[in-house]
Amino acid sequence: FPNRALDGIKLRITAGPTREAIDPVRYISNHSSGKMGFALAAAAADAGAQVTLISGPVNLATPERVSRIDVSSAQDMYDASLADLQDCDIFIACAAVADYRPSEAVTQKIKKSADTLTLTLVRNPDIVSSVANSPQRPFTVGFAAETQDVLHYARDKLQRKKLDMIIANDVANTDIGFNSDDNRVVALWNGGEHAFDTMSKAQLSRRLIALIAEHFRTERD
Ligand code: PMT
Repeated sequence: FPNRALDGIKLRITAGPTREAIDPVRYISNHSSGKMGFALAAAAADAGAQVTLISGPVNLATPERVSRIDVSSAQDMYDASLADLQDCDIFIACAAVADYRPSEAVTQKIKKSADTLTLTLVRNPDIVSSVANSPQRPFTVGFAAETQDVLHYARDKLQRKKLDMIIANDVANTDIGFNSDDNRVVALWNGGEHAFDTMSKAQLSRRLIALIAEHFRTERD
């Protein structure tokens, strides 16, 4: 990074999927690989930030100079994300957090019996929205993974979750988004937006970190 744009800045990133236990051997999850969040963590560390990566279960090596906290469920990710928020200047929510979890995680393996099985799900807490609405409030960036009306839903999430910036990710196309090495996104903030071309998640992360650093400085100065 030419100018070490985030020297000394404390940055937290969530990455990967969460797992919501159904019973001791089964869970609900999604296709997030963690690649996007890990690439952002690497780019932020290169820019001089002190990075804490809060990661769901993924198969990736921790980037250099990044400290990592491994979590499994959305509730675990929430607890790690909200802890000691006064030590966080910038929060980036890249994780694909399960919106719902089974209402009870039973302690014994569910046995096969009837032809149908009904699971009751309850809402998980919204991590990025809780961070953005906390008294300590770091500069807060969310992602929006959408399969239709991507920019419309992303703007809606920017306002509703009271974020400083949102990264709109069209996940209908399997060449970009979940588990791919490349991505194409649009960054949106109040009063502006920037569309990035398709590029590797590593390259894109450097561009996104530069953009986030610029907005963070403007807001703070
Ligand atoms: O991990 P990869 O395979 O590299 O894929 C990258 C990605 C597609 C997962 C990533 O680029 C991405 O889009 N992440 C956000 C996925 C998501 O769950 O989006 P959402 O639109 O459902 O959620 C909106 C925002 O709220 C996100 O910042 C999410 O982290 C956050 N959220 C959602 C639910 C919840 N309970 N708590 C949250 O903090």
